[in-house]
Amino acid sequence: MNLNQIQEKIKDSRLFRKRRLQSRIPLEFPMVLNVELTNRCTENCIWCPRDSMDRTQGFMEVTLFKKIIDEASLYPKLRKLFVHWMGEPLLHPDFLECIKYASSKKVAEMILIATNGVLLTEKIMKGLIETKVDELYISIDAASSGRYEQLKHTKHFENIKHNIEHAVALKKQLKVKLPFIRVKFLETDLNADQIEAFKQQWRKNADSVFIEKDLSIWDGKSQKVNANIKGMKSYLKNYGELESRYPCDRIWYLLAVQWNGKVSPCVCDWNGENAVGDSNIQTLREIWYGNELKNYRYHHVNHAYDRLPLCDACDRWGTRHMGDWLMKHKEKALSVPDGR
Ligand SMILES: C[S@@+](CC[C@H](N)C(=O)[O-])C[C@H]1O[C@@H](n2cnc3c(N)ncnc32)[C@H](O)[C@@H]1O
Ligand code: SF4
Ligand code: SF4
Repeated sequence: MNLNQIQEKIKDSRLFRKRRLQSRIPLEFPMVLNVELTNRCTENCIWCPRDSMDRTQGFMEVTLFKKIIDEASLYPKLRKLFVHWMGEPLLHPDFLECIKYASSKKVAEMILIATNGVLLTEKIMKGLIETKVDELYISIDAASSGRYEQLKHTKHFENIKHNIEHAVALKKQLKVKLPFIRVKFLETDLNADQIEAFKQQWRKNADSVFIEKDLSIWDGKSQKVNANIKGMKSYLKNYGELESRYPCDRIWYLLAVQWNGKVSPCVCDWNGENAVGDSNIQTLREIWYGNELKNYRYHHVNHAYDRLPLCDACDRWGTRHMGDWLMKHKEKALSVPDGR
């Protein structure tokens, strides 16, 4: 690990994140943005609600993407810009143009992209190298073709392996450090036995191997995800015995923009039913302190979660760690910067 990576690791530690957020609330602008270039995908993972969406599928207009970036660049740097949400970002026909724009505007401390790797061609990888994107998460989740097919319902495993090996070789050949390539494995009851094999496969062939242990049910409203996940030990170990509920800090630092510009209060809004604004006709700043998002924060600190259809059945608050602080500093948590 080099010095920069060590610094980033410290910044991502729970304590550091908590302290930073506490010292900055009320935030002038979100610290993290998820921008969904598309909600289409090449795969059909058993844990992902994407294919049960009612919302239309499409691609974000480049002009809208640039508008979002232009606005974000007016505020203190985002801690993280995730150029994905639901769907596969590399499907976007102007993917590289969007990434290059965000990077040229130096809008975030880190630009991160999660991809399933199916479309990680040499052209895309060269573009990402040129742009010095910080991190590429590649969600592989299996160590064999058969298991991959069982989990994602396609035969893309070998293709993805080949793409990643090629991407790593290209970085070596060009002697570059970025993008940092993190291969990702979401642990479930159906693949936990392949974790060691996965680590072996990638230990020497990727910059980092990430075993994700937070298997979730999103907002709890996808029948498919509930049916596939809720009975799993990998889910129950995090969410099986939650104690009494406390406010969830996500709505104090994050916004998620759907491909069509509608803005959701949280990434758990996979079906986009809980938009709190529209970035086509409003600024994100207006939305960030608009009445709808203020209501979210108000109901959270008053434990009125049943007033919020998105949060009501969600249990991902259970992995957040600022509930006590938010309760103790209600006034601050509900305030607006400089009375604006
Ligand atoms: C929704 S995908 C979008 C980007 C891209 N298609 C991919 O798979 O990386 C982003 C991440 O969400 C993760 N994910 C999807 N469903 C999940 C669940 N039920 N629990 C935890 N993580 C999940 C995926 O493993 C992936 O790494
Ligand atoms: S997790 Fe990613 S690859 Fe899998 S279906 Fe969802 S969006 Fe597609
Ligand atoms: S409670 Fe769930 S849906 Fe609501 S903000 Fe937190 S993570 Fe998102």
